[in-house]
Amino acid sequence: MPDQRKKLVEVQDLTVQFGSRRHPFTAVDHASFHIYQGETFGLVGESGSGKTTIGRAIIRIHPTASGKVLFDGKQINGPISRELDREVTRRIQMIFQDPMSSLNERAKVDYIVSEGLYAPGRKISEAQRREMVDKALCDVGLLPEFASRFPHEFSGGQRQRIGIARALIMEPDFIIADEPISALDVSIRAQVLNLLSQLQKERGLTYLFIAHDLSVVRFICDRIAVIHKGKIVELAESEELFAHPLHPYTRALLSAIPQPDPIAERNKKLLVYDPACHRYSETNRPGWEEILPGHFVLASREELEEYRELL
Ligand SMILES: Nc1ncnc2c1ncn2[C@@H]1O[C@H](COP(=O)(O)OP(=O)(O)OP(=O)(O)O)[C@@H](O)[C@H]1O
Ligand SMILES: [Mg+2]
Repeated sequence: MPDQRKKLVEVQDLTVQFGSRRHPFTAVDHASFHIYQGETFGLVGESGSGKTTIGRAIIRIHPTASGKVLFDGKQINGPISRELDREVTRRIQMIFQDPMSSLNERAKVDYIVSEGLYAPGRKISEAQRREMVDKALCDVGLLPEFASRFPHEFSGGQRQRIGIARALIMEPDFIIADEPISALDVSIRAQVLNLLSQLQKERGLTYLFIAHDLSVVRFICDRIAVIHKGKIVELAESEELFAHPLHPYTRALLSAIPQPDPIAERNKKLLVYDPACHRYSETNRPGWEEILPGHFVLASREELEEYRELL
């Protein structure tokens, strides 16, 4: 049966580089994936693997060296029309990791939440703006009177809610949540996750959820991509990835997840990923292979044979 799901975001062979032209540093190396409308897509990898860079390339903060980003069928990386830029600026929003540093300390919540509405071309009356701020604050479980306060008056969880309100006020279709709960107390994390999932249900939002460990994304993501040093090494539906992790880096990440059983936890072996294990050469190069429908892995032919045995 043909796949009827709409691809809201398509990242095709995307490369992002920093540094000078002479000495470029490749932060994202030929990454490809797509995100279906309404799904939560997880992007997982260790610090410095390029997760935020992918998010920022999609939202047009970082220029791309090659490849394409399509949003709702239209290419949005590289030069685009002013009209499309406005559309994308509204429809794609980002939520950040650290609610302590991502909010402007000197601005009141009222301004922080509605900043995006001041974009050129949007004519909104003061009364309308205030109404929208009140609504956005209510939508994330905060009181409208918080609008006149400053960010430092809030707890971490409340600040993250302010960050979410700031995104929601734009009525986006797609939200890039960059480690939205990593900096929060464990007790607050579930609340923020529940809020995100409730908002998704109510508004049909699509999420790119960035995290550095697999345990967080397991239950909230439909599909997960694992990234290592700028390269996506494996991508599958969440359950499939946990049932059949193939790439040694994915397996190492999985081995790091804490287990509820203390005896199992004490006896478990942490796997360490050594990129030298691949023995790649001119004749034994890795490719992006679909080993099962929807399950992709970066593997050489030899590795593919080994991985098939594991399925
Ligand atoms: N603006 C920049 N200029 C130069 N190098 C950068 C820039 N932003 C990121 N990098 C580099 O690109 C690589 C990927 O960084 P990125 O922030 O995307 O990683 P990450 O996976 O989000 O890590 P973390 O989990 O720590 O947030 C890193 O080596 C980083 O140092
Ligand atoms: Mg990051």
